Amino acid sequence: MSETRAALPQQGSDWQSVRERLVALGAHDANWRSGRLAVYVFHAGEDVLEVAKQAYALYQSENALGPMAFPSLRQMESDVVGMGLSLLNAPEGARGSMTSGGTESILMAVKACRDEARSRGIDTAGAEIVAPRSAHPAFDKAALYLGLRVVRVPVAGDLRADVPAMAAAVTPRTLMLVGSAPCFPYGMVDPIAELSELALARGLWLHVDACVGGYFAPFARMNGAPVPAFDFELPGVRSISADLHKYGYAAKGASTIFHRSEEGWRHQVFEFEDWPAGGMHTPTLAGTRPGGAIASAWAVMHYLGVEGYREKARAVTQTREKLMAAIREIDGLRTHGEPILGLFTYGSEQLDIFAVWGRMARRGWFTGLTTEPRGIHLMLSPAHAGVADEYLADLRASVAEVRASGESAGDTKARYA
Ligand SMILES: Cc1ncc(COP(=O)(O)O)c(C=O)c1O
Repeated sequence: MSETRAALPQQGSDWQSVRERLVALGAHDANWRSGRLAVYVFHAGEDVLEVAKQAYALYQSENALGPMAFPSLRQMESDVVGMGLSLLNAPEGARGSMTSGGTESILMAVKACRDEARSRGIDTAGAEIVAPRSAHPAFDKAALYLGLRVVRVPVAGDLRADVPAMAAAVTPRTLMLVGSAPCFPYGMVDPIAELSELALARGLWLHVDACVGGYFAPFARMNGAPVPAFDFELPGVRSISADLHKYGYAAKGASTIFHRSEEGWRHQVFEFEDWPAGGMHTPTLAGTRPGGAIASAWAVMHYLGVEGYREKARAVTQTREKLMAAIREIDGLRTHGEPILGLFTYGSEQLDIFAVWGRMARRGWFTGLTTEPRGIHLMLSPAHAGVADEYLADLRASVAEVRASGESAGDTKARYA
């Protein structure tokens, strides 16, 4: 990032030259369009991208803060939430909202859980959320904002939440349990059925973080993948976060937060009257909410439909299986755990995997890294089906180079953000 402070130009420029500069600014960005990025972007093809983009543009100025002015957005949000609730087996009376992303959805779940406890007269200062070590940092962010504390519990040998250890970590201060479907670091779906039982037995709020899997796992399951129960079909699940801007393939700025009951949802809502401009009622953190993100999600969901999402999920799971099988055949490499969706990691006990990552980066592949254990992290999109062979050829070459040179990446730090 430039260190010199920018100044607003005195005179404006014509759009064509502004556009050229915008394109030039992206010259050194990771090349996601050609499938060389496996984190941050979920590329389902140029046609889906076009639908998402055009729908966004159609409603980019409209504001979901004003549902009376924009009944269109109220209808679209209601449709998107309804489709999500159905996909996740929500019972009658369940309710949800759209948010700007997974972090906001998780913040809303934690707020609802905290305020539900407060409504029962519980002092929530410093109250605890028991989560597997693999849970997303959004829970820590939410806890920091809301005056709570996250207790992270090491995962079991299969890289899934260790439910007995989580049970042992529950104290009278615990309000919430967390499970991921799947977790970001390993792509593993936690044993949500066991967490559901624990939540019911101890009277705790179970949040399932399906930010990555919410719009993927249902379709993978329809395709025959062995996806265990993870959603509202399990009676202990109180809330679920599911991102549309990940495997829902919508434009960025679109997620959903769902609650088993209307009452749970009410605790996330903010109501205010005490100022000179009348009542303010917002269902989520945001005030202004971009109509474009809502329209984009609505449009992509209607464009793809169940069959379209199933086809995309099939492309992703087949690519993951192909890559995992081929990587296991490369001498010195091993995959971590048994992920079943679109995300997996691999590493090595013989070679410095971060050095392998460096060689791959020089070949133009931008992917994530993990530290426990050290590994390369691939979050796959449908677009990766077409580059899997190229990736594997480059990986074999990179591994051979690191083996020959014996190089190590030293104290390279993995950074997700
Ligand atoms: C499992 C999981 N939960 C939550 C999030 C946070 O989502 P966002 O980046 O949209 O805020 C992510 C992001 O990758 C994630 O992988």
